[in-house]
Amino acid sequence: MRVGLLTGGGDCPGLNAVIRAVVRRGTAEPGNSFVGFSHGWAGVLENEAVELTLKSTSGILPRGGTILGTSRTNPYADGRDGTAAVREAMRARELDALIPIGGEDTLGVALRLHEDGVPVVGVPKTIDNDLGGTDVTFGFQTAVQIVTEAIDRLHTTAESHNRVMVLEVMGRHTGWIATHAGLAGGADAILVPERPFDIDTVVAHLRARHERGRSFSIVVVAEGSTPREGTLQVLEGTATDAFGHARLGGIGVMLEGELARRTGYESRVTILGHVQRGGTPVAFDRVLATRFGVAAMDAVLGGRSGVMVGLRGTAIVETPLTEALREPKLLDPELYATAELFFG
Ligand code: F6P
Repeated sequence: MRVGLLTGGGDCPGLNAVIRAVVRRGTAEPGNSFVGFSHGWAGVLENEAVELTLKSTSGILPRGGTILGTSRTNPYADGRDGTAAVREAMRARELDALIPIGGEDTLGVALRLHEDGVPVVGVPKTIDNDLGGTDVTFGFQTAVQIVTEAIDRLHTTAESHNRVMVLEVMGRHTGWIATHAGLAGGADAILVPERPFDIDTVVAHLRARHERGRSFSIVVVAEGSTPREGTLQVLEGTATDAFGHARLGGIGVMLEGELARRTGYESRVTILGHVQRGGTPVAFDRVLATRFGVAAMDAVLGGRSGVMVGLRGTAIVETPLTEALREPKLLDPELYATAELFFG
């Protein structure tokens, strides 16, 4: 088999581990070779790619980012015949199948290609952990670790200055990162997209803490969080990507001002941003990414298409892309209820 790989969407610690694992699994048998497209679907459209070999993929296991580069290019944007363009690139490179590694958008393209008869096996990727078809995505644990360390650091400076520290973290549709890291770091309030927040309740948590003699607080807010309808005015940005997603960011700044105004406590905001996606993956993510890469190549060698590999419990499974992409995987309400016990 000759297989094309690409990484699409936001980068994520563990992408290189997947690439290495696909190549390692494939080259364990004679006759398999690999091509890596540059910058996601952009490289496919522009036929920009490199041969991937054991040599070129060795030493990349602990490396963050992606050696292939990535982009949010949508091959179907502006009425383009994305399938024809992908078929053409595959013909030019003599490819039998594609393994796109990406989130909802990249895998949405993969599904469309599969429905048009292009052999494709998807690998889920997102630090947000919001994809269906898998209990967890690689990159998520790394992001949680980074955010937890940030909360620990904010604690000491918050305590020294008697401040309310607002920490804005990633999480477009879901509050997985905010809740896991908030629990691990002992946050006093955690705001998530799944639960529009009531600013009065947040204020009450902070006041309750201060009345108990605590002079500082940590509020973790996922970037996609919103106030309960009609309670607060939030300014929305206008920039969108090729898949129509708005660029988020700003809820933390709004909360910093609003909490200070309502409580009288001095507040500061930290927007952690892309620090959460950078650097080396933690061990858990390296292992998961490696297992995903091996399983994706197994699926290709088994002649399967239109599936995505994932983790269920401790087992690696394959799920039809239609099912995996049906809806985002929202935060477990029980987990949030546990976190809530520690608010205030
Ligand atoms: O990968 C998903 C994500 O981390 C979202 O949480 C966030 O909104 C988005 O990426 C930001 O990506 P970028 O600024 O790189 O386009």
